[in-house]
Formats: sequence, structure tokens, C-alpha cells
Amino acid sequence: MKFLSPALRTALPLAALGTTLWLTAAEPQVTGLIREENGEVVLTSAADEGTYYRIETTDAMRSWTPLVTVRSTGSDQHLDTAAPHLDGRYYRAIPQTGADIITGDHLPTDNGDALLHPIGHASVMVSWNGKAIYSDPSDQNGNAPRFTGLPLADVILVTHTHSDHFSASRLTALLKPGTGTTIFAPQSVYNAMPSAAPATLRSRTTILANGATGNAHGMDIRAIAMYNLSNSNHPQGTGNGYVVTMGGQNLYFSGDTEDIPEMRALTDIDAAFVCMSLPSNMTVDAAASAVREFRPRMVFPYHYRQSIVFDIARFKQLVGTDLGIEVRQRLFYP
Ligand SMILES: [Fe+2]
Repeated sequence: MKFLSPALRTALPLAALGTTLWLTAAEPQVTGLIREENGEVVLTSAADEGTYYRIETTDAMRSWTPLVTVRSTGSDQHLDTAAPHLDGRYYRAIPQTGADIITGDHLPTDNGDALLHPIGHASVMVSWNGKAIYSDPSDQNGNAPRFTGLPLADVILVTHTHSDHFSASRLTALLKPGTGTTIFAPQSVYNAMPSAAPATLRSRTTILANGATGNAHGMDIRAIAMYNLSNSNHPQGTGNGYVVTMGGQNLYFSGDTEDIPEMRALTDIDAAFVCMSLPSNMTVDAAASAVREFRPRMVFPYHYRQSIVFDIARFKQLVGTDLGIEVRQRLFYP
């Protein structure tokens, strides 16, 4: 295993009038690397608070791959869950400037990186190829302020009518002028949209039944079943999970579902957002078992606090490292 020696942040003490000031470099720095027993690497990094930077990795110092873009809190920490699957890698931090920087995990595609940005609970935003894709944008669970600064939507996926997944007011707020936004939703969500103003929601919506496909803005969208097996909270056929293909990469959003065969049958998923909660969804054990069968390259647990706080550490342990599946826990409940 090889790691670039952590470059210590430039910090020059300056004693003046009995006070010690610290002059720090404006450039972000990777300041420390700790390898955990399971092979994961904890990176610490530093930058001026409120500035943005991208952590990149390389295995041979020839080309660098973006890993994550962050907004600095001054001193930051990032867990590299890909490290156990690699012989070794180096890290660097690159400053990001400009307007409208999106933070999140980078997923390289044939057409630039997709940035996977957690909003909260079941709400996710993906930025790709200059487009903004939202899955289940909802203001519940304290999400409302977390939409501030995010772009209007090109594509919105809505899984089902429950208020932690569907919010007519948030959908309306994300609409682009004209016909710029396409919403994909099951019939049940279309029916729940206001028929009076703002009736634009319905006019922007393409209804997909389980198994149906659509496309918009260079993305292919496939509706996947999501339902309960042990109760009637989510009856079969009323809601959709989604697989979105962008630049050759497949992203899966589970919506609310139990451990169903349609999910286990998925193939070639690069990034999966998988729900956990009771009684509507899965235990961590069921979710881990399903994930080990459909083997996404990365899995992002989401929707894992609802009356019960689910143990993501246990989920990760159960998924294991033997199949090469990375579990990336991100800030869905800040
Ligand atoms: Fe839910």
C-alpha cells in the first residue's frame, strides 16, 4: 500500500503584540491519512472555511480521478471506501472556484463526471452534463434549506405519493420556465398532483408504470417495481424505483421497497441509493443481503432514519468487502 506523504498545511506562527496569529495557505491540503483495519482510508484535509475543493486520487501519478467535491468547514474528514479494493493510491486537493459548485461524490461517465449530491432522507440531486436530476425532492425531514443554491431541475423522478418523497410545492419550485423540466412518476403521483394551478406539474409529467422506460436530456430512465411484501404501505404497482443511465453509468434509486426480486435482479448498477426503515422498507440485514445479490459498484444508504435510526455500520459490515461493493455513507441527516 502506498500513500503520498501527507503535506502539512503551511502554517506560519506570527507573534505580534503578545498574540499568536496563524497565517495559513489559501490552497486546500490533504493533511493526514490513516488506514483503518478494513483497508479504508480516513483523509483529513483543510482549507479556508466556506471554500470548495475537490479531492482527487491516482494510483500512478499520471492521471488523477476526482473522488469528491466538498465545501470546507475549515478542517474536513473524508472516508475513502474504495481504498480496500486497490493496491494503493495517492491523494491531492484541488481548489474549486466559480458559481454554483455542486458538492458530492464524483462518478466518472462517458460524458464528464456525474456529481451525486445528498439533499436529505430520500432526496438526492445529481449534476451531470450541465443537467440537474432530482430524485424524490421533498422538504420533509428538514430538507427545505438544503435546496438553497441548487439549480432548477431538468429531470425529476418521483417514486410515490408519500410526503417524504413527493411534494407538489417543492416540485413546482424546481420547475424550469417553459417546458425545460421533465418529471417521471407513476400514475398515483400524477393523480396526487394538483389539477388546479399549478397545473404545470401534470403537463410536465411522463407517467411510467413498473418496467416502462423513458428518456430525457440524454438520459434513459427505467421504472423498477417498489413495494411491500409484508404489509400494504406500498402496494405493488403504485410506486416506482428508477434506474437512470447517464454517460454509460447506471444509477439506481430504490424508493420505498422491501427486499423484492425485481431489485435483486438488477445488473450493472454503478451507484445504488438503497432505503432502510421499518415497517415500510428493509432492515439493514435485508438490504445488505439484497445488495450482495445485485452487486452495485457503490451503494449509498439513504432513507435510514424514520422512527428508528438504522445501524449503517452494521449494514456495511454485512455487505462486506469480498464482492468489491463500496458502501458510502453520506450526509443525509445533517
Ligand atoms: Fe419513505
